Order: sequence, then C-alpha cells, then structure tokens
Amino acid sequence: MLSPSQKQDKIVRSTDLDALSCRWNCVQKGYFEDVNIDKIINSYSKYLQFCEGYTNLSAGRTYKSVFDRKLPIINRGTYLRTKSISDIIGKFINDNEKCQIVSMGVGSDTRVFKLINPNINYIELDFEETTRIKKLTIINDSELSKAVNYSGLGATVADRSQFQTLDPNLHTDNYHLIGLDLRRLSDSNIVSEFLDSKRPTLVLSECVLCYLNPGENEKILKFWTDSISNLSLLIYEPISLNDSFGQQMRENLGRRGINLLTFNHFPTLKSKFDFLKSLNFQDINVTDIASIGGYSGDELSWISAEESKRIDKLDLIDEIEEIKLLLLHYCLVYGGIGKHTNLSKKWKLST
Ligand SMILES: C[S@@+](CC[C@H](N)C(=O)[O-])C[C@H]1O[C@@H](n2cnc3c(N)ncnc32)[C@H](O)[C@@H]1O
Repeated sequence: MLSPSQKQDKIVRSTDLDALSCRWNCVQKGYFEDVNIDKIINSYSKYLQFCEGYTNLSAGRTYKSVFDRKLPIINRGTYLRTKSISDIIGKFINDNEKCQIVSMGVGSDTRVFKLINPNINYIELDFEETTRIKKLTIINDSELSKAVNYSGLGATVADRSQFQTLDPNLHTDNYHLIGLDLRRLSDSNIVSEFLDSKRPTLVLSECVLCYLNPGENEKILKFWTDSISNLSLLIYEPISLNDSFGQQMRENLGRRGINLLTFNHFPTLKSKFDFLKSLNFQDINVTDIASIGGYSGDELSWISAEESKRIDKLDLIDEIEEIKLLLLHYCLVYGGIGKHTNLSKKWKLST
C-alpha cells in the first residue's frame, strides 16, 4: 500500500506520460519531428509495470493512454510550448560557446539527444523511477548511447526488484542523468558535484515547479541563484488568472488527483514577475502562450507568418476565442542573473 505522499508522487510522475502523449500526438500530426520519442515510449511499455504502485494490468492501461488522440487545441498548445522553449534553448546555446543546461523534472523529454555536444554540460533531473526508464532507454540503444557519449554496457531488467535496484544515475563526460526528488536538491551534493558553477547555465522547468509548493519553489530557485553566477532560468507552467476558466482547469485536474501548487499562489504574469524579482533576478520577462501563438495580436507573436501558414493546415481550429482562453492560462517566464542570454523576443511584461 502506498502512503498518501507516495500516491501523490506517483500521480506527479505520471504527468510525464501526459506530456509524452501530447508530444507524440504532435509528431503524428506533423507539427514537429522527434525521431527518438518511440524509444522512450517503448521503454515505458516495458518498465512502467515495475514502478511503484503499478501492476502489469494498470501499467498496460496507463501506457495505452499515451496513444489517445488529443484535441486540435491541445496539439496547438503543445506545439507552441515545445517550439518556444526549444527556440530559447537554441538561442542560449548559440550565444554561449561553452555552456551548461539543467533540465529539472525532465521526464521523457528527448531534446538532449539532438542538442548535446562536447561544449555543453547537460544535466537532467527527475524522480529515480523516471530516470531509470530514461537510463534504460539510453544504455540499450546504440544511437542514444553515442549521442550522450556513453560507452558502457546495456542492461536487462526483467522484474520489479531488478528495476528498483538499478542505479538511477547515468554519468558520462558531459551528460548527467540524476534521480533526485527536487525537494531535496539543496540537501545533498548529488547535483553540485557535477555542476560547473562558472559556466553560463540555463535552468529549465517545463511544467515541473507547478507541482511543488511556493516554499519549495523558492528553496529550489535559491539553490540555483546561490550556485550559478551566470544564470538564465526558464519556467513554463499553467496559471489560474483567478478566473472561472482557471477554476474549471483546477477542478478537472483535481478529479485526476493532480494538485497544481503554484496555480493559485502565482495566478498572473505579474505575480510570476514579482516572484522572480524577490529572488533578485535582474532581467525578467514573462508572456503567455496565447501571445506567443499570435492569439493576442501579431505584435506579440513568436511564430513567423510562413510557420503559421504551415501549422494552420495541420489541425482545423475555428474556435479562436476558445483556444485563446486556454492558452492565456499557460505562461513562459524567463529570468537572468549575471551574464545571461538576451532573448530578443516579444514579451508581455519585462523589466
Ligand atoms: C508534466 S511532466 C513534464 C516533463 C517534461 N519536463 C516535459 O515537459 O515534457 C512533470 C515532470 O516533473 C517531474 N517532477 C515533478 N516533481 C518532481 C520532484 N519533486 N522531483 C523530481 N521530479 C519531479 C515529474 O516526475 C515529471 O517527469
């Protein structure tokens, strides 16, 4: 039997399968390519059954949900989220010859396999079970092993005990996959050991910090501001806007046991801005995904006319007010300390 907190953590971990499903749907529709996504999906099909709180049957049911078709407005939102974050990461890498990327709550994100090169120290963090699934995907696949410069052996995991005793971490010269509960980030040196505090560093939270309470958010961000002198921070997450649509989102997620702990505490772009300011970020920029997608006017859009034309053909979306309302409830927050990347993007609110 799982304790209430173990149950909660299991639900939070399972949100990675939602993110994976959203990306898989976008790949099927042609929004973007991801040649490695099937490898991660395949690993979930083998190993989810060995994770805490799953049986063979419940793992099978959960796994199948990855292939549930998503609504066009969800696909469009996933595309905008993925593209805007990838654009910022790309700009950061271009601006800094030698740099460091830390992805908190990385889940099944496959960006690292495309981006990593000897000039980047790439660190990925998530709960141990999630990093075990990713590690098994990597070490049992020659192309992914090569991408992260892993030259060790693969591993066969045939039962729960083998899975649970597998070392959740994977280290190569410049890639570090670390199994860690982010709430313990500052209590151990498991991450500090692999950090280069002098390198320009981008810390990413793509729909992760929202599952942690405001005090935990502050503690985690303070860890990064204390550890890194040239820091760029990028956060993507939902916001309630204190309106009835936000209330409905909260109730829908609540029915699945998902509790977004920052959703009402930082309900608006301004409150996100103020939070980063209180942590001494010097350059702060915030916007919402509706603006990025051009639903609040062309002047705030991040998508070129040509790209808009292309994606408009992939899904028919005629309820513009509906998608705008949905995407207003997701934001992108960027903060810089020391030498950090100037993003030259259009933000709704900036220092
Ligand atoms: C919605 S998923 C997002 C995954 C990935 N960032 C993406 O956008 O595709 C949230 C991820 O955050 C991780 N996460 C949430 N709370 C965490 C914590 N306290 N410690 C480590 N990982 C955590 C979950 O395990 C899950 O993989």
